[in-house]
Amino acid sequence: MKKYVAEPFKIKMVETIKMTTREEREELLKKANYNVFALNSGDVYIDMLTDSGTGAMSDKQWAGMMTGDEAYAGARGFFELEDAVHEIFDYKFVQPVHQGRGAEKVLFPLIVKKGHYVISNMFFDTTRAHVELAGGKAMDLVCPEALDTKTYADFKGNMDLEKMKEFIEEVGKENIDAVVMTLTNNSAGGQPVSVANVKAASEIAKANGLKVIIDAARYAENSYFVKQREKGYENKSISEIVKETFSYADAFTMSAKKDAIVNMGGAIGVKDDEELFKAVKGMTIPYEGFVTYGGLAGRDLSALAIGLKEGINEDYLYYRIGQIEYLGDKLKEAGIPFQYPVGGHAVFLDAKALLPHIPYYEFPGQALACEMYLEAGVRCCDIGSYLLGVDPETGEQLESKMEFTRLAVPRRVYTQAHFDVIVEALKEIKKRASEMKGYRITWEPKVLRHFTAKLEPLK
Ligand code: F0G
Repeated sequence: MKKYVAEPFKIKMVETIKMTTREEREELLKKANYNVFALNSGDVYIDMLTDSGTGAMSDKQWAGMMTGDEAYAGARGFFELEDAVHEIFDYKFVQPVHQGRGAEKVLFPLIVKKGHYVISNMFFDTTRAHVELAGGKAMDLVCPEALDTKTYADFKGNMDLEKMKEFIEEVGKENIDAVVMTLTNNSAGGQPVSVANVKAASEIAKANGLKVIIDAARYAENSYFVKQREKGYENKSISEIVKETFSYADAFTMSAKKDAIVNMGGAIGVKDDEELFKAVKGMTIPYEGFVTYGGLAGRDLSALAIGLKEGINEDYLYYRIGQIEYLGDKLKEAGIPFQYPVGGHAVFLDAKALLPHIPYYEFPGQALACEMYLEAGVRCCDIGSYLLGVDPETGEQLESKMEFTRLAVPRRVYTQAHFDVIVEALKEIKKRASEMKGYRITWEPKVLRHFTAKLEPLK
């Protein structure tokens, strides 16, 4: 059993959270039409909806906020960010943007041609959307281990290299523009990708004239797993692992709201391709703002430059991943099924295994998310058929391969007792799992329905 790793920080500022009764939560969830995104966060006790932008900044980051330079052009924060990116990734060029999807919106139209493919170990939703908005087609080629939630594998986030070669052969390299490696692989459960896999995928890409882009949201957590699990990396520093990993790519898009521990921010990194970087700057000005601020305040840039470095601190990562492993081990002991092993930022509960009597079209992942709120005021979300949506042509509900309920852990925010509350809630839910009912959608928008759809419990 993993022991809880004590926080490598002490707490200087606190935010009160509200305790509610089960009766109150029943009323609140009904009013939210059984959609957890419609809950007022003030009515949530422990918020595990996302690890994105929900972290606690350090005293040093807040100090950076206070001294930020708010000049329109050439503000100091930009140069601080540039220095950090040179130092951590060894990339020549960086363009700040307002968040991860801002980076995708700027970069993908420059790389993707109409009707061409972009391949990935697994796209995050917004990354896939920006490939498609640019006229491209997104293809996920994750390794088969990712789909087996019960069996341990070191690197469930990996690209399936054989499938990648076959796919390139099948559609022709002239019809593919790039390869995106998502580190860690969020959609597969925050699962890591090995350096060997990034390197091999990059070699295949280069041999076929394809660009390699890293979706770098969780660059630090991925590198920590490499140090723990990949042979030959146990004595390397996180910094060395990050540098080697990124050396195999041409560019990265980054949501800085995750491993860089800021509440808002993002970046595009370009290793050395000056022409590509010029094009990036050209697209940034109309979409995000002038090149030295890219949709951020000067103070945000300073906090981001500091956060990038704090994110790769080894004591911090030992605690961060240890905290999630602690939660995973407690759940395993209680017989609660989840994508095993735990990811770097989240535990993905296997709602299909916990609620086998609820079919995909009655949304087991959503049912479990609602139950977690009712039981203990914990907010988490469906990553399954409810999120997937309907076939755009037939209007029929699609069946997701996996029915997950994601508990995503904000960085430096919750302590051991909060995790114990979650474990106790799931134990209670497990006792009455066979009586739990599914849900029905009463209204849904055309795209990205999970944010705004309305539901009701089935009788
Ligand atoms: N790439 C990955 C792998 C992500 O997980 C996210 C966001 C993005 C890109 C987009 O970044 O939100 O800054 O625009 N993931 C969040 C989540 C929203 O909850 O997993 P963004």
